Amino acid sequence: MDKNALIRKFNKQAAMYERNSRQRTLGVWRSRLLQHLDGNVLELAVGAGANFPYYNSDTVDLTAVDFSPEMLRSAQRMASKLDLKVTFKQQDIEKLQLPERSFDAVVSTLSLCGYDDPLHVVNKMNQWCKPGGEICFLEHGISHNKLLGTTQNILNPIARRISGCHFNRDILGIIRSSDVELMKTERYYGGMVHLIWARST
Ligand SMILES: C[S@@+](CC[C@H](N)C(=O)[O-])C[C@H]1O[C@@H](n2cnc3c(N)ncnc32)[C@H](O)[C@@H]1O
Repeated sequence: MDKNALIRKFNKQAAMYERNSRQRTLGVWRSRLLQHLDGNVLELAVGAGANFPYYNSDTVDLTAVDFSPEMLRSAQRMASKLDLKVTFKQQDIEKLQLPERSFDAVVSTLSLCGYDDPLHVVNKMNQWCKPGGEICFLEHGISHNKLLGTTQNILNPIARRISGCHFNRDILGIIRSSDVELMKTERYYGGMVHLIWARST
């Protein structure tokens, strides 16, 4: 899909993401991934800032990237409510240039579904993170259950058109074939949701 059309699609969803940013189950997962991080943290595809309540605002200095100006406006409101230090960048992550090995940790939640080439983005995350630094993911992808997976494959073209996201990405396959070192994974909701802890190599 054309990038400008995708940005317009996410702009329209920003108010909904802002309203739903405190969803309970997601909140538990976000907290488990993020509460212990500190230093310079890079968050990709930040959306409306749903992760912000789970960072330690005393110890985290966040750089947050998204290509949707409306999502970034919502995220800015969230950051000021929480007094979280955030540098915002409005950019296409697939073309993003950042100094290599400059972040203590890199975070992606519900973002690998959106890129044309998610493996390329994961490898860039590896490069932007200091060696040994934490790279964590909360992602949705194709289920290991045959029936669910087939349904996701059938619905994917419609889902992509409506939401801008792919519903059938092989998240573990992407992470395993990337440069990051996989440390721990958990799967929920019929294997459609992944929590992934990895390290930069
Ligand atoms: C499903 S939302 C997830 C938002 C947030 N990470 C969360 O956990 O709620 C996907 C976000 O990725 C952003 N996005 C998708 N593709 C992108 C790209 N190529 N560059 C920058 N942002 C992108 C969208 O604007 C949207 O804010």
